[in-house]
Amino acid sequence: MTIPHHVAIVMDGNGRWARQRYLPRVAGHRQGVEALRRCVRACADRGIKVLTVFAFSSENWNRPQEEVSGLMDLLITALSGEVKPMHESGVRICFVGDRSRVSEKVRAGFAKAEQLTLTNQKITLNVCFNYGGRWDIAQAAQRVAARGQVITEDALNQEVATAHVSDPDLLIRTGGEFRISNFLLWQCAYSELYFSEKLWPDFDEAALDTALLAFAQRERRFGKTSEQVSNVAVAA
Ligand code: IPE
Ligand code: IPE
Ligand code: MG
Repeated sequence: MTIPHHVAIVMDGNGRWARQRYLPRVAGHRQGVEALRRCVRACADRGIKVLTVFAFSSENWNRPQEEVSGLMDLLITALSGEVKPMHESGVRICFVGDRSRVSEKVRAGFAKAEQLTLTNQKITLNVCFNYGGRWDIAQAAQRVAARGQVITEDALNQEVATAHVSDPDLLIRTGGEFRISNFLLWQCAYSELYFSEKLWPDFDEAALDTALLAFAQRERRFGKTSEQVSNVAVAA
């Protein structure tokens, strides 16, 4: 079975998971952290080398203040509790997004986690936080322009916030919504898209395997014909 090198996930549905249980939304986010921990391990076990997750979008600042501060508290808790065990499992952690709007404490936590896990090779976990696809393209273009270079596809590829990894092969969105919500707009040009009805806290190993099986059955053509890309040798 073809395993994707890079899987990206829009971890959606925490709020609904909580509401179904008459719990506050932040309880759903807390459960979302548990789901992420399990997912990182499952991806590593299956030989996936890069996992990029959407944890907080540039639009999520527009949520009620109570939820935003709950998410920031949860992030700080996760930075102090989750990083060390992940490090011990060989996870390289990278934070992707605009850091100018996060607190000094969070920024320091990001830097510490990145430094600690820098040379780990089992799997790379990119946590997109205060991330937006349009922000990413704009910041990449600004950096290319600031160097006086021409804005080409190659130049932007080198400056987007995920330049340290290849583009996602498989992009999963949980929570039953069929949209990208300003996630990796530039990078998902040729990703296989997979939408799951499962709410993120319920996205377990079986659900991951279902997504991976669907991916393995796709034919990625990259603009070519089916005959060109099929493994069956065709007489030239
Ligand atoms: C995704 O879950 C997590 C974040 C956006 C931080 P939601 O909070 O969007 O969950 P729903 O969509 O309301 O169920
Ligand atoms: C996308 O989910 C962002 C994250 C999962 C972090 P949202 O729940 O914010 O997406 P929309 O606004 O419903 O499209
Ligand atoms: Mg949502």
